[in-house]
Amino acid sequence: MMIDLRSDTVTQPTAEMRKVMAEAVVGDDVYGDDPTVNELERLGAELVGKEGAVFVPSGTFGNQLALFTWCARGTEVILGNECHIIQHEAGAASVIAGVQTRPVPAPNGVLPLETVRRYIRKRDLHAPATSLVCLENAHSLGRVVSLADMDGIKALAAGAGLPVHLDGARIFNAAHALGVDAREIAARTDSVMFCLSKGLCAPVGSLLAGPEDFVREARYKRKIMGGGMRQAGILAAAGLVALRDMTGRLADDHRRAKKLARALTAIPGVLLNPDETEINLVFFSFPQAEESGEAKKITEFFAERNILINLPDEGVFRFATHHGIGDEEIEIILETCKAAFREAR
Ligand SMILES: Cc1ncc(COP(=O)(O)O)c(C=O)c1O
Repeated sequence: MMIDLRSDTVTQPTAEMRKVMAEAVVGDDVYGDDPTVNELERLGAELVGKEGAVFVPSGTFGNQLALFTWCARGTEVILGNECHIIQHEAGAASVIAGVQTRPVPAPNGVLPLETVRRYIRKRDLHAPATSLVCLENAHSLGRVVSLADMDGIKALAAGAGLPVHLDGARIFNAAHALGVDAREIAARTDSVMFCLSKGLCAPVGSLLAGPEDFVREARYKRKIMGGGMRQAGILAAAGLVALRDMTGRLADDHRRAKKLARALTAIPGVLLNPDETEINLVFFSFPQAEESGEAKKITEFFAERNILINLPDEGVFRFATHHGIGDEEIEIILETCKAAFREAR
């Protein structure tokens, strides 16, 4: 059996998901006829305290649909410089919504209030109009943004008449880390995208939730993006299991990530602050891995022992815990880390 630490996106659908997918009652969702999709959208909206939600194929689709729905072409979106929309969505904001992005240096995913205040454009002949502020929580750098920080941004944006969109791909991880309900996080934003895949194990799908008129428009824009799906209840059935049964278990992923982080600090040459492991993503650096060839040797060392890891990014490794990694696997990973990093020094 492979232990796959590359990402929580590698999770497999559970046996229960496969069963309900096989048995799902479906209809043509473009007609609004699929009862399983309708139930997923209802439950999803309820869990984040919004009026409605629309089912989309992926997190990237949901974020881009939010931009496309909120923003007029040629306007500007303020967001963190390391956020997923900037770093990992293939520049889609300029292609689909036709917006200009204005990245804010955002240490640990937190948008500094004063910079955002400065970045909100005044009406001017030369400047694009600001149309949206985007937040990400939990952040894909493994950090969690506090409710107080979110409050500050929400109040500032509201004062300027701007909506706030949340990339909440891992909103339930953030909720566990903050010890609050996902609803409390989403309440600080106007729209929220969250994933049913990743830690929640559904094979496909995300939801974009928000006010009723926003969701109506998003459904139309989803059609433009080619995302109107037909008997999508097959997928929504797994999504319902994700939302009903799988959010609670994220605490186990966090606990295991923390254990991994703490144990890694004891390995000579490995650098990390375990307090910064707030969700299921452990980031650590191993400066020797910046040397050419060293990083590849380390990943091969793991692969030979049936453990998949990504090559480090500028010397920084990321290990993700998820449903496929239990306590036993954590022990195996730790033993392998000790050997791999001892060998590499
Ligand atoms: C914070 C964040 N947003 C959005 C996404 C995109 O999700 P998807 O891979 O389903 O497009 C990811 C994926 O890992 C993510 O980490």
